[in-house]
Amino acid sequence: MTMLRSVVLGCGSYLPERVLSNEELAGQVDTTDEWIVQRTGIRQRHIAATGEFTSHLGIAAAKAALSAAHVDAQTIDLIVVATSTPDLTFPATAVSVQAGLGITRGAAFDLQAVCSGFVYGIATVDALLRTGTYTRALVIGAETFSRILDWTDRTTCVLFGDGAAAVVLEAQQQPGTRDDRGILTTHLRSDGRHKSKLYVDGGPSSTQTVGHLRMEGRAVFKHAVAMITDVIEDAFRATGYTAADIDWFVPHQANKRIIDDSAHRLGIAPEKVVITVDMHGNTSAASIPLALNTAIRDGRIKKGDLVLLEAMGGGFTWGSALVRW
Ligand code: UT7
Repeated sequence: MTMLRSVVLGCGSYLPERVLSNEELAGQVDTTDEWIVQRTGIRQRHIAATGEFTSHLGIAAAKAALSAAHVDAQTIDLIVVATSTPDLTFPATAVSVQAGLGITRGAAFDLQAVCSGFVYGIATVDALLRTGTYTRALVIGAETFSRILDWTDRTTCVLFGDGAAAVVLEAQQQPGTRDDRGILTTHLRSDGRHKSKLYVDGGPSSTQTVGHLRMEGRAVFKHAVAMITDVIEDAFRATGYTAADIDWFVPHQANKRIIDDSAHRLGIAPEKVVITVDMHGNTSAASIPLALNTAIRDGRIKKGDLVLLEAMGGGFTWGSALVRW
């Protein structure tokens, strides 16, 4: 029996022009290129210019995705922006993106699941598309984490960067088998008992300030691999696929050591793992689509490939998605 699936039509990204290297950072805080590369794999990050907002990054990424998908912005009826660094407390950054694209129909809203935002975003949009209410959606991960970093705290400021990337998803009738194109399964999890391990110490309701990112890095690291592998095993159980069937593993880009350990534990070969954390650091909700876009542009991810996505972040939140490209 046929069924509606959310099929990826195109992907695009945008990184701010300014590049901040590890060497340059080492001139500002007590750190070294060697420490950052060894512990995280990060070599540089991009920093948004003064006056360049999350919505501006999101609009640029959305335009690139629409162009790659060969679809007109006016055919989009759903926009979800996953972000923890919105332009304003409200309205949603998604409506600024909608206006920037000249779209006046459909719905646009933000989604807040920190680094898991993109996976949460595609799971939410997939569910909405499959109701038949919406037909074509943009899921955008867009962040300006440079604005919430404590630039005197070497344990966090070396890790994050700014950027945005987007995918266009379309509801399409598919045969209804696990060989279908589109999103095959998604699995979302959270556990608020860990909320103080990675958080921002400000907000409209508590301090009336924006606040700075705070993280118990070692504690996050400790949980990350177990949570990631757990939710990926959920995806395998739901579809019957195994690690051997995966063409590309596109994980959240936080730390190369976490990525390598997760892939190893799952039995995914290193040459199937897409890693871009070296080029832009941890861009939170933007990191997975940035990595996706890189692997599409360089010819690795092709139509028909089985692509596994995962993320883990503040909350804790975590999730996985299995997609036939
Ligand atoms: O996207 C959301 C999810 N977030 C993550 O996945 C982040 C998870 N955590 C991590 O990636 C790692 O825990 C970090 C990269 C944050 C830290 O690596 P680590 O191997 O866990 O290092 P550590 O926190 O245990 O620190 C080791 C040492 C400490 O010095 P002592 O106490 O051993 O003397 C730190 O003070 O490294 C020191 N250190 C630094 N040294 C140079 C911490 N930050 C720096 C730095 N440069 N930037």
